[in-house]
Amino acid sequence: MVKDGFFTGLDIGTSSVKVLVAEYIDAQMNIIGVGNTKSEGIKNGVIVDIEKTVESIKKAVRQAEEKAGVQVTNVNVGLPANLLSVEECQGLMAVGMDNQEITDDNVNDVVKSALVRSVPPEREIVTVIPEEFIVDGFANISDPRGMIGVRLEMRGLMFTGPKTVIHNIKSTVKKAGLNIDQLVITPLALANSILTDGEKDFGTILLDMGGGQTTVAIMFDHKIKYTSVIKEGGEFVTKDISVVLNTSVKNAEGLKINYGEAYPAHASETEEFPVDVIGQNAPVRVNEKYLSEIIEARLTQIFDRVQNELEKIEALNLPGGIILTGGAATLPGVVDLATERFGINVKLFVPNQMGLRNPVFTNVISIVEHVALQSEIDSIAYAAVSGNYALKVAQTSQAPVSAYTEPVYQEDDYEDYHSETIERDTTREAIKDKGANIVERAKGFFNNIFD
Ligand SMILES: Nc1ncnc2c1ncn2[C@@H]1O[C@H](COP(=O)(O)OP(=O)(O)OP(=O)(O)O)[C@@H](O)[C@H]1O
Ligand SMILES: [Mg+2]
Repeated sequence: MVKDGFFTGLDIGTSSVKVLVAEYIDAQMNIIGVGNTKSEGIKNGVIVDIEKTVESIKKAVRQAEEKAGVQVTNVNVGLPANLLSVEECQGLMAVGMDNQEITDDNVNDVVKSALVRSVPPEREIVTVIPEEFIVDGFANISDPRGMIGVRLEMRGLMFTGPKTVIHNIKSTVKKAGLNIDQLVITPLALANSILTDGEKDFGTILLDMGGGQTTVAIMFDHKIKYTSVIKEGGEFVTKDISVVLNTSVKNAEGLKINYGEAYPAHASETEEFPVDVIGQNAPVRVNEKYLSEIIEARLTQIFDRVQNELEKIEALNLPGGIILTGGAATLPGVVDLATERFGINVKLFVPNQMGLRNPVFTNVISIVEHVALQSEIDSIAYAAVSGNYALKVAQTSQAPVSAYTEPVYQEDDYEDYHSETIERDTTREAIKDKGANIVERAKGFFNNIFD
């Protein structure tokens, strides 16, 4: 069940800070306000200057507040995939006497019991996503509350991240005058938000191509199985253009946005544009093909690095192929170039909310969705891990919901909220045609990934 109310997402990206205020009414997401301001103090997805980042966040929040006409006090913040790790965990507890119904408190306790394990001192547990509960030996229970049992077990996935990264995010957001409702694992939220049910089940590779980094995430069997970060993104493309054409970074960004094409075969050799070259009075004329080759070189390097990662874990055969999103995937020709490099199906995800139909917003939308669609069990588990369970009990006024349900989207003045994908191939048909072979192989591999 979707919770009604206001939800605010904060995506602290290397290139820009995005803030989204949305209101859910009757399970429908309504965009209330958006902020998107240039980032300062962030490098390769990680905060390197707290003061500068605080200012960037404040600006983005102010922008969203002005549009929304509401004051933003609390935010849900995306945690980047840098050094994120995911592992299986288990909890176990005695509920108490016979015939006692399992309560929220018991769920909190069993999640807490799973936290008692050795985590290296430089790492911190961010959240636990319960996969199943086992009540007196009866397995596959998604919500044990209200059931009777004496022994409660939980199996789930535990996400840990580097303490420094987490601390810096928390302290920066606090200094910007905001309370953090939840730290949201970005690749998890992203995968849940943009993949179809089949893609989540059979396995799909997600590439979030940002400004300072490219995040690889694999979802299979509805679980995040793998994340990795390549420390290169769209800003590197801009820098290359600036260096090769001997023009300022600002000019280079403009050239990329206005004339950029990632697939040189589609670029014109005759179409030219003027470039202000440093040290020369008159602009120099450069053709689109040349610009395209500069862009292609960097993107090819990024894709090759991603491919190396995927080859290491033998994940290139996943039926869902690759889905691209993030600002750097916006350039025309990126899908063609990626398809050529990877040799598998590639498509681009573009969000479909009015005013947000740009892949730079995919992350922040998914952060909001993650929290709004979160099941009561996941929310108890998050509170148990973050130590806010007592607070949650005091604050919560919502009726408990029993199980995770699929997103329900509005069909109102914002049009359909279905994901709009620009497909190069008829992916789903192609997936089917690849046959069960690949699916089975992939399943075999991923079933063992935690061994
Ligand atoms: N229309 C466009 N055409 C080409 N590139 C674009 C376009 N819009 C944005 N970009 C590029 O996308 C990048 C920013 O993307 P995004 O906002 O997803 O990154 P970020 O979240 O700030 O950074 P990161 O995820 O790396 O921390 C920049 O390099 C920018 O040049
Ligand atoms: Mg990003």
